[in-house]
Amino acid sequence: MDELVALCKRRGFIYQSAEIYGGLQGVYDFGPLGVELKNNLKAAWWKSMVYENDNIEGLDASILTNSLVLDYSGHSDTFTDPMVDCKSCGMRFREDQVPESCKKEDLTEPRQFNLMFKTNVGPIDDGTSYAYLRPETAQQIFTNFKNIVDSTSKSLPFGIAQIGKAFRNEITPRNFIFRVREFEQMELEYFVTPGDDEEAHNSWVQKRLNWWETQGVPIDTIKLYEVPTDELAHYSKRTVDLMYKFPHGLEELEGIANRTDFDLGSHSKKQNELNLHAKVKLNKDSNSKLSIKNNESGMVVPYVIEPSAGVERGMLAILNQAFTIESLPDNKSRIVLKLKPHLAPIKAAIVPLKKNDEKIVDSAKKIKSKLQDLGLGRIIFENTGNIGKSYRKHDEIGTPLCITVDFETLENNSVTIRDRDSMQQERIDIKEIESFFMEKIK
Ligand code: GAP
Repeated sequence: MDELVALCKRRGFIYQSAEIYGGLQGVYDFGPLGVELKNNLKAAWWKSMVYENDNIEGLDASILTNSLVLDYSGHSDTFTDPMVDCKSCGMRFREDQVPESCKKEDLTEPRQFNLMFKTNVGPIDDGTSYAYLRPETAQQIFTNFKNIVDSTSKSLPFGIAQIGKAFRNEITPRNFIFRVREFEQMELEYFVTPGDDEEAHNSWVQKRLNWWETQGVPIDTIKLYEVPTDELAHYSKRTVDLMYKFPHGLEELEGIANRTDFDLGSHSKKQNELNLHAKVKLNKDSNSKLSIKNNESGMVVPYVIEPSAGVERGMLAILNQAFTIESLPDNKSRIVLKLKPHLAPIKAAIVPLKKNDEKIVDSAKKIKSKLQDLGLGRIIFENTGNIGKSYRKHDEIGTPLCITVDFETLENNSVTIRDRDSMQQERIDIKEIESFFMEKIK
């Protein structure tokens, strides 16, 4: 972990937030390379969910959340962690995360601590006009269910996908970006006819494993954890967690839950007319019945399968898998980030052999703009004049290709392309560079 954290800071992936003021615990900023990796990961998820499935629609809902949403979702009452204080060191911990250095007799009785961030809305802070920063992106998918059904004429099964920030006032944020207070989720709510839920659940577990594999987190690095009944969230009939061996231990990367008809039922009016299976709180405030026409049984409140992944945890797993120290001849070594090309923050570096040679530099700039125009991600014009140093840097940040422009380029229009992983170099004609690049990066 230490080496990864150091690389992330040195190369501009991830910084501690407000570091110049001593930081803010559990909050991180994503630097020039971090923002590219994050965007690429989110784009890969979006493509696999929304673009590749005509029955899945996207949503970008608000972060500020009406408190009624979180009352009826159960978060106001149950989204809590038990915390204890240590009278000896003065620190507060989640009950299951007390360090061994704290003695049992120094700990207070556990108290429930709500993890939601509350904020004032409007100019008067009288304690009545408040909202929450959403603790999961899912709830606004449920509250927009009817809007989306009405505007897209969907029928079951169909899904709504959303990527966005979520906030939790974690008692003990820890392990770099693994457990933080501000993070992003990639969540799908997949609505199915009750009775079809168990098959859909199994199928989504498999699909999600396959997806992580294509992001560079192989299936054999993930363990499935059947969450025991007494540990299930209040809305869940069954949850399967994808557990990845992070540098600090085996922990949850993504959760895939069967949320039944709990959420749509909880946010509906006239719940007694809906034939709900889940036990829900009586809703006196909703103005809508969140049901959908089903061919077989008339109106129905669908069950929902929810694959919910954290962007930061995804990045940490991907970086951990990609981080490699390789031995080279002459007792040397190199650090190389073997990221999948579609995730790499920089897709190619164009390196002129001579920094001050106008013709070489011009040719390199033309190649940069030609490849940039393909729209496959960021291309860098890297004019340091030191090829070896450029290669080392781009190995460390995971750039799949370095393209060197030299004197031969001026004679016969060819360039050298160096592959990050094999370090092999090959000479190709500039005319072929776009197709070569697209083949490698896609
Ligand atoms: N809507 C369901 C839900 O939010 P969750 O298991 O609490 O379920 C889903 O969260 C995913 O969000 C987790 O698998 C994890 O990847 C990510 N996540 C949750 N809390 C997090 C935190 N404090 N820091 C970073 N990621 C977190």
